[in-house]
Amino acid sequence: MMTTIDPEQSSSIVFDAATKVYAGQPQPAVDNLSLTIEAGELCCIVGPSGGGKTTTLLLVNRLVELTSGDIRIGDRSIHDIDPIALRRSIGYVIQQTGLFPHLTIAENIALIPQIIDWDKSRIKKRTNELLELVGLTPVESFAKRYPHELSGGQQQRVGIARALAANPPVMLMDEPFGALDPITRANIQDEFLALKDAIGKTTIFITHDIDEAIKMGDKMAILQEGGVLAQYDTPEAILAHPANEFVERFVGNDRGLKLLTLRTLKRVLNQTPNRPAPMSRADAQASNLPRITETATAQAALSLALNARSSAIIVTSESGKDAVELSVQRLLELGAANAAPSGTIPTGAGV
Ligand SMILES: Nc1ncnc2c1ncn2[C@@H]1O[C@H](COP(=O)(O)OP(=O)(O)OP(=O)(O)O)[C@@H](O)[C@H]1O
Ligand SMILES: [Mg+2]
Repeated sequence: MMTTIDPEQSSSIVFDAATKVYAGQPQPAVDNLSLTIEAGELCCIVGPSGGGKTTTLLLVNRLVELTSGDIRIGDRSIHDIDPIALRRSIGYVIQQTGLFPHLTIAENIALIPQIIDWDKSRIKKRTNELLELVGLTPVESFAKRYPHELSGGQQQRVGIARALAANPPVMLMDEPFGALDPITRANIQDEFLALKDAIGKTTIFITHDIDEAIKMGDKMAILQEGGVLAQYDTPEAILAHPANEFVERFVGNDRGLKLLTLRTLKRVLNQTPNRPAPMSRADAQASNLPRITETATAQAALSLALNARSSAIIVTSESGKDAVELSVQRLLELGAANAAPSGTIPTGAGV
């Protein structure tokens, strides 16, 4: 029976021993991949070039067919979904933008909405909204230009807008932000995360950038050469407990520092059984130690202490009413708690 993906419903994606061997190749490009991406989650796939990341995406929308195993979206096997209907219900941002050169930016974005028969005014409204979202303003100027009249990074943003156009429940994104400068990239990462939380899209997101994966991913899948899954877990669990030497090398020897980016001061303070005693108001006011609010990350706090060459900082509550003094030593202990597999705390961080 052929079915479609319900566009109103966010769906899980399940890889069940998914394997792809390209014709004439001795080794699989994706080897026996099994993992579940829960509905509404964003899974980052990272791994070396040629590790099977793009192939994994192509298998989901059946631009490449599985050699064996299965992939299910919701509870339906992709084999039971008409490939054309399947692709229309999946937003796909390809590695090399793939815009149609003879169509304007607005026409490129409107492709899927047009195919599924949205009326003109709805398409125009959506196109403008998306151009705004990806920061291509003034909208009127960008809408009527052709892809070759845009920079590489701007074209990439059109690719993202196009994939989002019909508001698909599933998004496949192949290094979508690769061509963007760091500031635009950080903005668009934040916007995409907010959007994802608001509409609960299930997303597979490929990136070469481990920091991007840590920031964006609810989960991270690390593919090793030959399309073998090395580890699948939350970024925090992977940084804290790399499954093997490959993962350890891949996440980098600064994984202890990276872990600090995932932990807010509030969280590390709440987690510790012996939370430092609150400072008196008078002490807090008199102190000239650098200050940071508890919503900041442990990494931001460490950076603040380093910049100020201070061996301690003051952490204030959001209201500013309460304050605790934290030594850098204590900050490192708290931030790195459970960071090492053996439960030991990394030392010699140079501070
Ligand atoms: N159409 C094809 N026919 C034969 N082999 C292919 C084909 N497409 C990809 N491959 C091979 O499959 C393997 C995985 O390729 P894939 O494009 O999935 O890697 P990737 O992880 O996306 O790499 P990159 O980070 O460079 O984009 C590579 O060894 C590649 O050479
Ligand atoms: Mg690729």
